[in-house]
Amino acid sequence: MNVLILTGAGISAESGIPTFRGPDGLWEGHRVEEVATPEAFARNPELVQKFYNLRRRNLLSPQIRPNAAHDSLAAFEQAHQGDFLLVTQNVDDLHKRAGSKKVIAMHGELLKARDMDTEEIFDWRDDLTSESVHPKIPGRLGRLRPHIVWFGEMPMGMEQIEAAAIKADVFIAIGTSGRVYPAAGIVELTPANCRRIEINLDETPASPRFNESHRGAATELVPQILQSLR
Ligand code: OAD
Repeated sequence: MNVLILTGAGISAESGIPTFRGPDGLWEGHRVEEVATPEAFARNPELVQKFYNLRRRNLLSPQIRPNAAHDSLAAFEQAHQGDFLLVTQNVDDLHKRAGSKKVIAMHGELLKARDMDTEEIFDWRDDLTSESVHPKIPGRLGRLRPHIVWFGEMPMGMEQIEAAAIKADVFIAIGTSGRVYPAAGIVELTPANCRRIEINLDETPASPRFNESHRGAATELVPQILQSLR
């Protein structure tokens, strides 16, 4: 059985990380689309860096931990015999902290920085500013950006994601609003006989494309549904 999982902000909500489009989905009066674009970064790099610096600090605070949904995905992967791939739109590292191994962070990772010119990627846990220095070249300032996919940029790992989608026997989308493409289109790449399962607190625009929609909290439903697949 080939299993493909897609997660979104809803899986980390119960760990204390706010979602994008819920009631907490605004940041200091900005829509996320207004800070998460290359144009926004060119116009006002401090604002964009501050947005991600605050989110990085929050992610690193001790109360933020993987929850039962992250944990059950890692346990399922470990026990599973067939192919397994976990694709996440989340830029937090909670799947990795829970012990998931085959993870594609299609929208990038908050705990990494990227040199805008050389494309080198570095682990990064501090604030990023216009003064941030390349870790290996002491005199090189201000060329680092968050390793995040902004609107208008190509998500990471699309070839691998598409290859997994076309041979999936089970596809589960967890805690995603189904509004941001190409992630929202992955369900349509799965074969006609694939069992397509949606787990979300609410109905989403993508719900009609699934065979089963389970309404409720990820921490309750994800362990239950994964258990039923074993
Ligand atoms: P959204 O914030 O758009 O949607 C979160 C979804 O999770 C909603 O459908 C909620 O109903 C659901 N949800 C919230 N809490 C839940 C819980 N405890 N259990 C189950 N479901 C819950 O987040 P995404 O769909 O991940 O991209 O957003 C997609 C992309 O938009 C993000 O990756 C980000 C953003 O712009 C980039 O930054 C490139």
